[in-house]
Amino acid sequence: MAILPPAAALLDWYDRHRRVLPFRATGGAPDPYQVWLSEVMLQQTTVAAVGPRFARFLARFPDVAALAAAPDAAVMEEWAGLGYYARARNLLACARAVAAAGGFPRTAEGLRALPGIGPYTAAAIAAIAFGEAVVPVDGNVERVMARLAAEERPLPGVKPVLAALAGGFMADAAARARPGDFAQALFDLGATICTPRTPACALCPWRGGCVAQRRGVAAELPRKVPKRARPLRHGAHFLLRDAAGQVLLRRRPPRGLLGGMLELPGTPWREGGWETAEALPFAPRPGLRWQAVPGLARHGFTHFELEMRLFSAEVPALAVAEGEELRPLAGLGAALPTVMRRVLGLASSFPPPLAGEG
Ligand code: ADE
Repeated sequence: MAILPPAAALLDWYDRHRRVLPFRATGGAPDPYQVWLSEVMLQQTTVAAVGPRFARFLARFPDVAALAAAPDAAVMEEWAGLGYYARARNLLACARAVAAAGGFPRTAEGLRALPGIGPYTAAAIAAIAFGEAVVPVDGNVERVMARLAAEERPLPGVKPVLAALAGGFMADAAARARPGDFAQALFDLGATICTPRTPACALCPWRGGCVAQRRGVAAELPRKVPKRARPLRHGAHFLLRDAAGQVLLRRRPPRGLLGGMLELPGTPWREGGWETAEALPFAPRPGLRWQAVPGLARHGFTHFELEMRLFSAEVPALAVAEGEELRPLAGLGAALPTVMRRVLGLASSFPPPLAGEG
């Protein structure tokens, strides 16, 4: 096992340079609910994007009991735009389990049994909220470990090796005395100094103890097995408005991609493009004069890229069927997932005249 640099050097650095973050406790014990919420939000979403959303979420659902009691749709709506909506569904399931049990489990092992909590999140909550001597391993921590040990074997295969290296720090008394600060110090180091492309090794509290820095290869590590290109899929969506400016929306089924989120009705997403004549049978009402809105919208999902067309029509009045909702066009974006904001954005420079006008 590689010789690890002293945890105390990182903790001293953290005491001087820790980032002030909206979800980070300032004095006093961190609230497990807030730690959990921020860690779930931070999975796949940047610290900058999470900040304001965390505060807003907390204002609406101040504790686990409030969240557990909230209707599903209210939570999905508050999550809109943060992506990865399975997280929001798991968040609610987890809140309900925790409220029923009377509180969060205090160990990583106990936390892992909850919905939506994987090894990383369990370790982060256990270390930060409960002071358990564990090291959460995310992409930042993997990068730091790969560089400390100048590990040349590629991700993802080398993950267990990097996790074992990180765990090795808990043999260091300084890290074991402050597991929550040690974890957050690693996150901050990865975010501000040991960055992916141009690490600021000259400022690093572990320079000298880092093998990759000594060899001048830090910026090249960790190595990665090349990813396959994501396939491109195509969809067409329908913006149907009534004379009062209300838009017809559909709620997606509770499971699967974007489960439980609102969307503009549309075609399935498939590899081939949609000609107008093929797409129109999927329109939410038959026999309307649909106009093709110029342009294409794009959105990247984890496993595919999506290119969307938009069709627009107006009717004097709309009656909703099962699974449909009407919402005012003004401010609609806030209730929609990002992919739907993008396709709706095509219409912003395309205001078809209301029926009877112009
Ligand atoms: N990324 C994930 N969790 C974090 C935390 N608690 N502090 C800073 N960055 C993070």
